[in-house]
Amino acid sequence: MERLDKRLAGTGKWSRKEARELIRAGRAAVDGAVCRAPEAKVDERAAVTVDGAPAGSGGPVYLMLNKPAGVVSSTDEPGQPTVLDLLGEELQGLGIFPAGRLDKDTEGLLLLTNDGALAHRLLSPKRHVDKVYYLEVDGVLDQADVEAVRAGVVLGDGYTCLPGELEPLGGGRGRIAIHEGKYHQVKRMMAARGKPVTYLERVRFGPLELDRALPRGAYRRLNDEELKGIFSQ
Ligand code: URA
Repeated sequence: MERLDKRLAGTGKWSRKEARELIRAGRAAVDGAVCRAPEAKVDERAAVTVDGAPAGSGGPVYLMLNKPAGVVSSTDEPGQPTVLDLLGEELQGLGIFPAGRLDKDTEGLLLLTNDGALAHRLLSPKRHVDKVYYLEVDGVLDQADVEAVRAGVVLGDGYTCLPGELEPLGGGRGRIAIHEGKYHQVKRMMAARGKPVTYLERVRFGPLELDRALPRGAYRRLNDEELKGIFSQ
């Protein structure tokens, strides 16, 4: 048995406060009978409707976050704000986690989901899901860097990266596409070139392109096209 307001909030469609309000307004029904008590205990198998439509069980959630600098991409890091702190109350407690990691100071596209199977697939090293970053380095990005990235940069620990693509945009600015996701990979690649990264923003993750209409720190649900894209990876 679960409180009716909690059951509705658990769908991810309403916050707990919104759920309480719509229940008090007589918009929710349990097994066909209007219920105006947010605290009413509801059986798991009960059919709950809002405005006559099934409230749904919630199902998996897929969000695009435009990560700001200063938050960590893990679910629980004592003393540090995490990407989950940016989510509204209605998305708390649904088991959402970031599919992949961006460093605390890296900005841009991060997929958040509670679909473990999909995240596992997208992050599998075998799949080589493309990641594209806008970067700024201390120094000037030149043709030698382009060729080194194309050949596979050898990191400080001796690991040879898979070939990537670097597009210099003038001065220390550029775009880089990589096809694996080693720890601090772009920073370590550029450090190996003697041009430390001073700014990093992820602009693409597989088929997902960072939505420029999303302010930093904001998120939205993936649209149907984007969902199709990530499921066909
Ligand atoms: N590469 C890095 O060095 N940092 C990131 O956050 C992502 C890729």
